[in-house]
Amino acid sequence: MTPAQNFNEEIFVTEEVLQSSHTYAPSDAFRVTANADESLYAEATDDREGFWAKQAAELTWATPFDTVLDWSGAPTARWFVGGRLNVAYNCVDRHVEAGFGSQVALHWIGEPGDSRDITYAMLKDEVSRAANALLELGLVAGDRVVIQLPMIPEAVISMLACARIGVVHSVVFGGFSPAALRARVDDAAAKVVITSDGQYRRGAPAPMKSNVDEALAEAETVEHVLVVRRVGEPVEMTEGRDLWWHEFVGGQSSEHEAESFDSEHPLFILYTSGTTGKPKGILHTSGGYLTQAAYTHRVVFDVKPDTDVYWCAADVGWITGHTYIVYGPLANRTTQVMYEGTPNTPHEGRHFEIIERLKVSIYYIAPTLIRTFMKWGDHLPKAYDLTSLRLLGSVGEPINPEAWLWYHENIGGGRIPIVDTWWQTETGAIMIAPLPGVAATKPGAAQRALPGISVKVVDEVGAEVAYGESGYLVIDQPWPSMTRGIWGDPDRAQEVYWDRFKEQGYYFAGDGARYDEDGDIWLLGRVDDVMNVSGHRISTIEVESALVSHLAVAEAAVVGASDETTGQAIVAFVILRGDSEAFSDDNDVIVAALMKHVSAEIGPIARPKRILVVPELPKTRSGKIMRRLLRDVAENRTIGDTATLADTTAMRVITESLRSNS
Ligand code: WT7
Repeated sequence: MTPAQNFNEEIFVTEEVLQSSHTYAPSDAFRVTANADESLYAEATDDREGFWAKQAAELTWATPFDTVLDWSGAPTARWFVGGRLNVAYNCVDRHVEAGFGSQVALHWIGEPGDSRDITYAMLKDEVSRAANALLELGLVAGDRVVIQLPMIPEAVISMLACARIGVVHSVVFGGFSPAALRARVDDAAAKVVITSDGQYRRGAPAPMKSNVDEALAEAETVEHVLVVRRVGEPVEMTEGRDLWWHEFVGGQSSEHEAESFDSEHPLFILYTSGTTGKPKGILHTSGGYLTQAAYTHRVVFDVKPDTDVYWCAADVGWITGHTYIVYGPLANRTTQVMYEGTPNTPHEGRHFEIIERLKVSIYYIAPTLIRTFMKWGDHLPKAYDLTSLRLLGSVGEPINPEAWLWYHENIGGGRIPIVDTWWQTETGAIMIAPLPGVAATKPGAAQRALPGISVKVVDEVGAEVAYGESGYLVIDQPWPSMTRGIWGDPDRAQEVYWDRFKEQGYYFAGDGARYDEDGDIWLLGRVDDVMNVSGHRISTIEVESALVSHLAVAEAAVVGASDETTGQAIVAFVILRGDSEAFSDDNDVIVAALMKHVSAEIGPIARPKRILVVPELPKTRSGKIMRRLLRDVAENRTIGDTATLADTTAMRVITESLRSNS
């Protein structure tokens, strides 16, 4: 059960949440060696900018900054103004120069069982080669490169190579369709695409390069495609455009002098779904982003670079992979695990086997995976030695107390802290989380804004709600890793994030939240038309557009329905066109075709779990679809208040037609 998924129309908090008032204090041993203590909160409140300047000073700057924050162009901030640095130098070279070249940066494990250990010295050489290759292709600082790669070291190397020469990367998750890839390539006017011949998926090679070829047909901006050989399947190479990574990058010099860039130089674009049909390219820049990535990674995960083995099991195609696989951990000279495959390949104990083998000490995953482990059974974690673990993290969606407690007991052995971390693509780095050596943690609560960060839970008109009450989560002070806007649409960020509480100047996150009686924060899920499926953001409108782009569909309405494993599942209601029998007179055949169609349009992550064919959709008098009522149907609940429906017979017709169909 996920607490209060349906916040937009009604706020409800489950019994389970209210009852789980038990807290878990850190052990003394953890507390005394922790990177952060309680005093950080006061330090940050007393002098916010001084506090952030101190965090920024942990990085190596080629030119020191003269102003911490320039907020005169709000809501576009400039942090560490006047400073110059090289992000890749900070993540790689400086550790080698400090004598840590032989420390493993990445313990990489491939899905078929192959592995590579990459030290910081090796990483420096590889990143330099890739940087030289991109320069030879004619790229200059400010150009854009799109990266669609599986979870292989070349993904990290490519990102850092771009950063090293001031080129902006846009990583596209491997599961996105050619159409979605093409939209991102065009939006950023990318000159180079980096991909691989294929990717392992549940034990077998699946194509990747051929998807890229399809995406790039007549793409106007792309001059070259770099292809990493991963699975060894034959691919078509376009003469003059396509180059093999092992030949072209492999043949470059490993010497490259990193030049410095302005603190506000663009670092990357990452697309995320909002409340419209078109994904937004979220822009992040260099100095502020890296400062908060490194700081949060240091204090929330309590990382000790000399002893810890850290594993964030995200994909680099999402913000979690950017900030907590690439930039934060590497800036902090972390040794980490990078795993290519799915958690159940070749068997369901795979993650635990890796933790045991590599003595992983910090493990960061999403609640959907915890719930999947619960389903697979307690016997799996029990079969492995997980005593190397000393800290667990959770991200991506509200963690229900039941999953928290299972995680605590079965993976953490009942002895180690869990940090529930709330943040977004737009925030760039963690904003709300308990500090593991400080907080007595509460199952299900992200608890408290980090030192240096300020958030509030407010009501409709922007007034802070009392303890024990729910409302909207807002961020009321600028922060270093905040997005610098939407790529190609400079005015849109104001409207999307800041207009809702314009008078107060608050950033509206799109999430509902609640203060408990102690003032701790509980996240309640999205309050807009964004669904959260397995910790991935998908807009209802994006899926609806994909459905209506199929000739058989007249109208579609999509809702996120509570799902035991994935948090929410996509449920679509479609009205077929009068002549849809031209496609088939069998609804099952049409439904199967529609599922495939959405997969092809957006990607398998957007494929609805259920598609229900209905004769009508419930609408308000102004024509707005009442998703709340459809969610009632999708979650098998009694239909709620229909007072605002234009035509109350609509819901009866829908429920009756579904009953007679099943
Ligand atoms: C949305 C952001 C942050 C990296 C992964 C997702 C939800 C994220 C939590 C959490 C409750 C969470 C929110 C947020 N979310 N973390 N710990 N507790 N909800 O990044 O794709 O930008 O999605 O994910 O709804 O707005 P994203």
